[in-house]
Amino acid sequence: MTGTHSPCLGARRTARVVSMAPENIVLNNGITMPAIGFGVFQTPPDETTIAVTAALETGYRHIDTAAAYLNERGVGEAISRSDLDRSDIFIETKIWITDFGYDQTQHAFDKAAGKLGVEQIDLLILHQPLPGEFDLTIGAYKALEKLLADGKVRAIGVSNFMPEHLTGLLDATSVVPAVNQIEVHPYFRQTAVLDADAEHGIVSQAWSPIGGITFYRDGKHGSTLEDATIVAIAQMHGKTAAQVMLRWHLQQGRQVIPKSVTPSRIAENFAVFDFDLSDDDLAAIDALDTGIRGGPEPEAITRERFGLTIPEA
Ligand SMILES: NC(=O)c1ccc[n+]([C@@H]2O[C@H](COP(=O)([O-])OP(=O)(O)OC[C@H]3O[C@@H](n4cnc5c(N)ncnc54)[C@H](OP(=O)(O)O)[C@@H]3O)[C@@H](O)[C@H]2O)c1
Repeated sequence: MTGTHSPCLGARRTARVVSMAPENIVLNNGITMPAIGFGVFQTPPDETTIAVTAALETGYRHIDTAAAYLNERGVGEAISRSDLDRSDIFIETKIWITDFGYDQTQHAFDKAAGKLGVEQIDLLILHQPLPGEFDLTIGAYKALEKLLADGKVRAIGVSNFMPEHLTGLLDATSVVPAVNQIEVHPYFRQTAVLDADAEHGIVSQAWSPIGGITFYRDGKHGSTLEDATIVAIAQMHGKTAAQVMLRWHLQQGRQVIPKSVTPSRIAENFAVFDFDLSDDDLAAIDALDTGIRGGPEPEAITRERFGLTIPEA
């Protein structure tokens, strides 16, 4: 894919758009979440505290981890070592599919909170739907509703839910998810899911926001970082390709959670509030969508195939 997209260098640039990217997003239950968070998927457990510390020092106030990343303890360590008040940091984590079911998911909260070293989790989400065992998915979500009612979490949500999974969930439960964390980057935009989220008042949270899954997976996929269109737009704005992709999400109302263990990139990814992409820029990036998913098909997720025992706290 690299280099196959034509840059829009010739596009006539008109007046700059007024910034459409606030630094915070208000969720459907009134809770405020930073528009940019810090992801730690594939960050090794022994490097997580260092990376999260660098992120907090840079100014990130939202960390996205998951039970399945096996690094919640490292996130908690960085938070407890920082001088920041607990209330200044927005912590998000995810329940893995082997902990689905009403009782299991309530216990999964105890495991996560114990590892994170906190009493309350800001945003707790289901990592994947289990399409073949949707009753377990519903049981897990009902446990999240109970945790919300009990004040143990401030907001609840889902991840990798396609429109039909959202419909099934909304039909069987009472609290509309605050977020749906899904794969979105210039090569895979998932318009139907974005539309379904918007229709229900759910914030779309972009995972692999700079297309990490297009370049870290097997080296055979084209890298969004080297895409000719994105690089040309970046050069016009004096920014990097990563910054342009993050800005594209933010101006379209998506929350982003870029991951890095590299201090210079951690800082680079946070410096995205001092420029605006034009409507032409946004449209040129929209046009890069290939419709090809980088992550696993949500329909193919089963406990047999993706089984992982989440340790106790
Ligand atoms: N819900 C889900 O199913 C799901 C799935 C995947 C990810 N996520 C979440 O989304 C977060 C982000 O997704 P992701 O980690 O897949 O992809 P990403 O943030 O799009 O990309 C991460 C990759 O890009 C590199 N990188 C970061 N900033 C860069 C920059 N400015 N220039 C060049 N390279 C840069 C990182 O390398 P270094 O670290 O070596 O710097 C890493 O290899 C995850 O950490 C996780 O929290 C959720």
